[in-house]
Amino acid sequence: MLELDDIQSGVLRPRPSPYVATYIAFRIDEPAAGRDLMRRIGRVVTPASNPTSPLADTWVSVALTFEGLKALNVPQESLDSFSWEFRQGMASRAHELGDVGESSPDNWEQPLGSKDIHVILVAVSPDEEHLEQALKPAREAYAQMSGIEAIWRQNCHALPCDTEPFGFKDGISHPAIEGSGIPGSNPQERPLRAGEFVIGYQDEMGGTQSTVPEVLGRNGTYVVFRKLHQRVAEFRKFLKESSSGPDEEELMAAKMMGRWRSGAPLALCPFHDNPELGADPKRNNDFMFHADDAGGFKTPGGSHIRRSNPRDAQIAGVARIHRMIRRGTAYGPMLPDGVLEDDGVDRGLMFAFVGANIGRQFEFVQSEWINDGIFFGGGTDKDPVIGANHNGGGNFTLPKKPLRKRVQGIPNFVVTRGGEYCFMPSLSAIRWLADLDT
Ligand code: HEM
Repeated sequence: MLELDDIQSGVLRPRPSPYVATYIAFRIDEPAAGRDLMRRIGRVVTPASNPTSPLADTWVSVALTFEGLKALNVPQESLDSFSWEFRQGMASRAHELGDVGESSPDNWEQPLGSKDIHVILVAVSPDEEHLEQALKPAREAYAQMSGIEAIWRQNCHALPCDTEPFGFKDGISHPAIEGSGIPGSNPQERPLRAGEFVIGYQDEMGGTQSTVPEVLGRNGTYVVFRKLHQRVAEFRKFLKESSSGPDEEELMAAKMMGRWRSGAPLALCPFHDNPELGADPKRNNDFMFHADDAGGFKTPGGSHIRRSNPRDAQIAGVARIHRMIRRGTAYGPMLPDGVLEDDGVDRGLMFAFVGANIGRQFEFVQSEWINDGIFFGGGTDKDPVIGANHNGGGNFTLPKKPLRKRVQGIPNFVVTRGGEYCFMPSLSAIRWLADLDT
């Protein structure tokens, strides 16, 4: 069984719907102050074992970058025991992640990607009132402390119908995790070994990760935050220009995503949207690909959801070892319906990945599945919705009889504004960090 009372709730608990969320990043200028911050914040972080807190679905989580662990004076032997990708940091991995050109770290929102981001506090709640209640003790923990500075903040909030800014329902597909007691969303997917998502337990490969000392890593995990700006007007214009009318436009959007905007999967309703199905959490993720749709005639192999989780589809490799927990929250206002010109407002997704293996899970999916198509026989085609189609030369194939349809010239709809690789410690590791005397 997972030790839920030692694991932060942000790791395992799905976010509430609707939600409001805040990300606050801190710089630690003095190790002693950083440890004091850990001690104080440790008191407000919520464990995964407490789904019915007085603050309802509200949770506060804390994560540290590698620079943050260094700023706390974590001993070298312990630092060396963390994963290689985490130690490099996201900005150093830009090339592998497709963060080039306009998405390159040179163009990121400051101070994201710099050595100044040490601690990230995340609070998520069903409404502003509860968020404020949860943030108050956290704020008391860091306000007026010298040696600590809050240097960046991002507020997020649910958009109507819990969609992301392009207009698709988000937050549907989640893996089931052995021993968590929290069900996954696909009844046909065997629960994954806990070690895929939490350090210190056996994973799908039969291995168990650990750190020096063990208490530092056990019940913790890695979290990847990415601020992804979405070009909504550009996306709408592209759909219009590549279709011959509103119905075809919606079908094209669904083919690119693998789901209709309502969340209804093409796998279960390939010809028309079915909003009732889209809204039904018992049915909207109950499908596989291979037996029913090996050729991708319903859900194209190149669509966002089939790339990012090919389920049982035939691909090079094994899909199960590249699963992830996602905790995306939207920022910025919705672009009003029908608007096709960019209004210059920043909107997008604070994408959050949770998993015990940044390289095998997040980086692999981002580089091999989203920004390449070889794994399913799709050549070098990238994800049509979120792929790094920086030169405007993206391609997408819709399998069709008698002839497939090939869409060309897809522009870049998503720009990386910044991000960090973080470690989300257990509650006991937060205390260990607070008690360091190096
Ligand atoms: C702005 C960027 C993004 C947008 C708009 C977006 C949108 C969506 C939507 C609408 C869904 C379907 C609903 C759901 O299952 O929750 C989805 C699923 C998913 N996305 Fe994304 N996404 C984005 C970025 C990413 C990134 C960066 C990754 C990974 C590197 C990713 C991985 C996934 C995965 C694994 C699923 C679930 C697939 C499944 O199990 O069916 N997404 N995304």
